Amino acid sequence: MPATLTAVATFLCTVRDCHLPLVGEERRLVCARGHSYDVARSGYINLLQPQDRRSSKPGDTAAAVAARRRFLDRGFGAPLVEAIVEALPLTAADAVLDAGCGEGHHLAAIRDRFGCAAYGVDISVAAIDAAARRHPQVEWIVANADRFVPFADSSFHAVCSITARMNPPEFRRVLNDDGTLLVVLPAPDDLLELREGILGERVMRDRTAHAITEFSPLFSLRNRERISTVAHLDHGAIEDVMTSSYRALRHSERARMEAVSELKVTLSRDLLLFRCSE
Ligand SMILES: C[S@@+](CC[C@H](N)C(=O)[O-])C[C@H]1O[C@@H](n2cnc3c(N)ncnc32)[C@H](O)[C@@H]1O
Ligand SMILES: [Zn+2]
Repeated sequence: MPATLTAVATFLCTVRDCHLPLVGEERRLVCARGHSYDVARSGYINLLQPQDRRSSKPGDTAAAVAARRRFLDRGFGAPLVEAIVEALPLTAADAVLDAGCGEGHHLAAIRDRFGCAAYGVDISVAAIDAAARRHPQVEWIVANADRFVPFADSSFHAVCSITARMNPPEFRRVLNDDGTLLVVLPAPDDLLELREGILGERVMRDRTAHAITEFSPLFSLRNRERISTVAHLDHGAIEDVMTSSYRALRHSERARMEAVSELKVTLSRDLLLFRCSE
């Protein structure tokens, strides 16, 4: 392909044992066997099959999505975004996949920085709908990234998993041989002050060794980095980061959170950059 053209990934049908390419028609995608998927009003495509979800509304709730967006809109994620775009070796001719993309903040920033083709997959309709409404220049797909990742082999130059899904065989299949995998994990000291003060826990869990093992032997670690900042959070930001990070707070935990008007809080992420193994 000429370097000036942006790569376009081919969607695959998610009906079990079908997996044929999907071709775009007016407001829908169709495979040669006649399975069809409508494009939603906000522009996303729902490729999730009923057997690929465990509840009627899987993934992050609308409340968690809205809380994460408010938190990110206040700039608290900026150091991580900067590190992500610095780490990714992308050009305008490439295509990138974000698996478990949430409301789209990171992928939209990647798309804006490189001008590349961008595809975001999340199992939460609320997250993908919010992403599609704000960032129409990116393709947004509802699908289960733990199962079949609905793209043709070798579609992407980079796959990102930002505090999200880890599916080594599928990430390898959809990546080019010279592709890059970026995995971002909460670092051991992430939200330490809030976890201590509100949840009453002081666990410092390093998730990197587990991730490196999970992705081996298909992927080899090339680089790692920790991005840590201390942010002065007001009560609203504390509620938002807790709502978007933890499922449901117990009554006692919620009461402790209500009592905190402001706090200096550590925001900390481990970035792991992998290449496909030879
Ligand atoms: C902690 S959030 C991170 C969102 C986003 N990457 C970010 O950093 O803002 C995890 C996301 O994974 C999504 N998710 C959970 N299970 C999933 C699955 N099986 N397939 C795709 N997405 C999933 C959730 O809906 C949620 O949006
Ligand atoms: Zn099909």
